[in-house]
Amino acid sequence: MSAESVSENQKTFTLTNNNTGDSVELPVLEGTCGPPVIDVRKLYEQTGHFTFDPSFTATGSCKSRLTFIDGEKGILMHRGYTIEELAENSSFMEVAYLLLNGDLPNQAEFTKFERDITYHTMVHEQINYFYRGFRRDAHPMAIMCGVVGALSAFYHDSLDIWDPRQREISAHRLIAKIPTLAAMTYKYTVGQPFMYPRNDLNFPENFLYMCFGLPPEPYQVNPVLTNAMDKILILHADHEQNASTSTVRLAGSSQANPFACIASGIASLWGPSHGGANQAVLEMLDEIGDKKNIPEFIERAKNKDDPFRLMGFGHRVYKNFDPRAGVLKKACDEVLDDLGINDPRLELAMELERIALEDDYFVERKLFPNVDFYSGIILKAMGFPVSMFTVLFAVARTVGWVSQWKEMIEEPSLRIGRPRQLYTGPAQRPYVPMDKRK
Ligand code: CMC
Repeated sequence: MSAESVSENQKTFTLTNNNTGDSVELPVLEGTCGPPVIDVRKLYEQTGHFTFDPSFTATGSCKSRLTFIDGEKGILMHRGYTIEELAENSSFMEVAYLLLNGDLPNQAEFTKFERDITYHTMVHEQINYFYRGFRRDAHPMAIMCGVVGALSAFYHDSLDIWDPRQREISAHRLIAKIPTLAAMTYKYTVGQPFMYPRNDLNFPENFLYMCFGLPPEPYQVNPVLTNAMDKILILHADHEQNASTSTVRLAGSSQANPFACIASGIASLWGPSHGGANQAVLEMLDEIGDKKNIPEFIERAKNKDDPFRLMGFGHRVYKNFDPRAGVLKKACDEVLDDLGINDPRLELAMELERIALEDDYFVERKLFPNVDFYSGIILKAMGFPVSMFTVLFAVARTVGWVSQWKEMIEEPSLRIGRPRQLYTGPAQRPYVPMDKRK
């Protein structure tokens, strides 16, 4: 079978079966930006064929109005605003409102939204006891998978996904409580008391306070760290239909409750190919250890027989500089400057970046540094242990997951997601009794 394109203004795509000569006209749909898509929903009905795209390299799984990425040009936009503009001018709370509601808030809307989030930051007191079931040395993401999933056992009054008000409350609860749970997770793993949220602090200030505040001492807000944290949150807020977001959507398509769906997103984010990469970058820099070892690691990354990859490089969608990486690089310098940290890892990272960007292997494959390359260095400088990095990603991405989930539930044509497959197992065969098996 071969595909034959028809002219763009006909808005159809002709697919011809070379064996039978049969053709089908498939509708071509166009979004606001980005390449057109061929609508294959009727393909099986019309031809008896499925499409095959196991890693979804050419498949659009949904319509969405939230985020647009042009990977060739290195563009990322939320609801039409570029990430650079948002990072420069807005706050994480504003971006959260934008993603959730479609437009930037006016002052009154913003004040109300910030208040709604602030007044949902406390978690049910019984959740404190839930933590005690975990080993102190558990990976923070393991704890997060458990406690976020458990939220649906605590907030029964917002589980009806068909009630818009309950959807709104659970969205606010998730955005507000995940930082509290993340901070509690950190405190639990270091053996310090949980810090209750403070309503007089803004979102990033409160989060840093819950992580680094201690009951016997007054907490001093550091504006440079708050600003860097806010930027990190903005830059990770949403990223179109990546693995964890698609996981949330797929889980949500079965009409599962939002807390359970977000827990599934956290599980998917954990892997080193996705959110776990920021932890892997730091571990890799420690493993490289010294500038003189960089060529050896570059060679290993290029060797197909070696599973080693340069963590923090490459992206499924970006075939150009990750626009988030540029913003973070600047924030990274500010934090290190303010804290007076002269982290040799940063120097190592810069040298690695320089060498990789000149190397033919990386140039030909368009492997540029991604957001995780810099976020780990900033988070480390702020005092977060490496194992918390992916948790911080989850705190930010909750906004995207919740917004995408809400968009999907509000879509009238919602149906359960159900991919098909290319079966390659044995064809039908008779059952052989055990005493007759070889
Ligand atoms: N180091 C060495 N080679 C690489 C790397 C890397 N980091 N990334 C891709 N390649 C090579 C890969 O071997 C392949 O080469 P060839 O064509 O010769 O077989 C080519 O580049 C294309 O790579 P791919 O594996 O087909 O690309 P993918 O879209 O399946 O994977 C990725 C994307 C992000 C998983 C991958 O680039 C990677 O593993 N990077 C390191 C992990 C990382 O930094 N992940 C964070 C991504 S950004 C945050 C997020 O979205 O969560």
